[in-house]
Amino acid sequence: MSDARGKPVALITGATAGLGLALARRWALRYRLVLTGRRTSFPDKVPEDAVYVSADLSAGADAVASILRALDAASIDRLDLAVLNAGTGRYGDPFDEDAESIRETLSVNLATPVLLARHLFPFLERAHGRLVLIGSVAQGGSANLASYAASKGGLEAFARALREEWRGRIGVSMIHPGPIATGMHDKAGFDPKRMRRIFASPERMAAMVEETIAAERARAVLGLGRTLRHKLIHGARF
Ligand SMILES: NC(=O)c1ccc[n+]([C@@H]2O[C@H](COP(=O)([O-])OP(=O)(O)OC[C@H]3O[C@@H](n4cnc5c(N)ncnc54)[C@H](OP(=O)(O)O)[C@@H]3O)[C@@H](O)[C@H]2O)c1
Repeated sequence: MSDARGKPVALITGATAGLGLALARRWALRYRLVLTGRRTSFPDKVPEDAVYVSADLSAGADAVASILRALDAASIDRLDLAVLNAGTGRYGDPFDEDAESIRETLSVNLATPVLLARHLFPFLERAHGRLVLIGSVAQGGSANLASYAASKGGLEAFARALREEWRGRIGVSMIHPGPIATGMHDKAGFDPKRMRRIFASPERMAAMVEETIAAERARAVLGLGRTLRHKLIHGARF
C-alpha cells in the first residue's frame, strides 16, 4: 500500500477518453488515481482522492514537469502502477504527412513517454511498482500509419531496454492492443466502416490490460481475434 490513505497509487496518461478512461473507471475504487489528459478538465466524475493533470504531451519536458508538480502538490512520492497510454496518430499516405504531424505523433507516443518513464523511476522504485507501456499491433508495420507504427515500434524497443535496466527493481509490461472502439480512428482520419463493429470495446480491452498486469506479463498482444482482422485491414505484422 503506497499512499497514506491506504490505497495503492496508479498514474494513467490519456485518461480522458477511450482505453485510459475505461481503466480510470475500472480502478477508481481500487487505486488512488493520478489521471492526465490534454483537455483542461476531466470529462467524468473524478473520484474524491484522484488528481487530474492537464498536460499536452507534445510539449515534452514541460508536460513532464507539470505531471511531477502535480505529484508533489498531492504529496505522492510512490507509484504502484504507471500506465503510459496517451496516444495519437494520423492515417494516410506517409508522403502527405506534414512535419508537425510527424513530430506530434513521435513526441506524444514515444519521446515524452521515454522522458516521463525516466522521471517516474524513483516513484515506481519506492513502491516496487510496474510501468505499463501501451503500444499497438500497428508497431509491426502498418500501411498508412507510418509515423504511428514507428512510434509504437520505438516504444517496443524502449520497453526491452528498460526491462534490462530496471530488472529486479521495477516490472515493465509492453502491451500491444488490437483495434479498440474508441474515438481515435476518427481523430486519425481513418474510417473503419463496418469493421468498427467487431473492434474490442474500451471496457473489454481495459479488462484484458488488467489481467496482463495481474499476471506480471512482460509483453502481450491483446484481442487476438480482432488483431487478425486488423492485419487484414492494415497489413500489419506483430
Ligand atoms: N483505438 C485503437 O484501435 C487502438 C489500437 C491499438 C492501440 N491503441 C493505443 O491505445 C492508447 C489509447 O488509445 P485510445 O483508442 O483510447 O485513444 P483516444 O480515445 O483517442 O484517447 C487518447 C487519449 O490520449 C490523450 N492524448 C492524445 N494526444 C495527447 C496530447 N498531445 N497530450 C496529452 N494527452 C493526449 C487524449 O487526451 P484528450 O482527450 O484530453 O485529448 C486521450 O485521453 C493509445 O496509445 C493508442 O495508440 C489504440
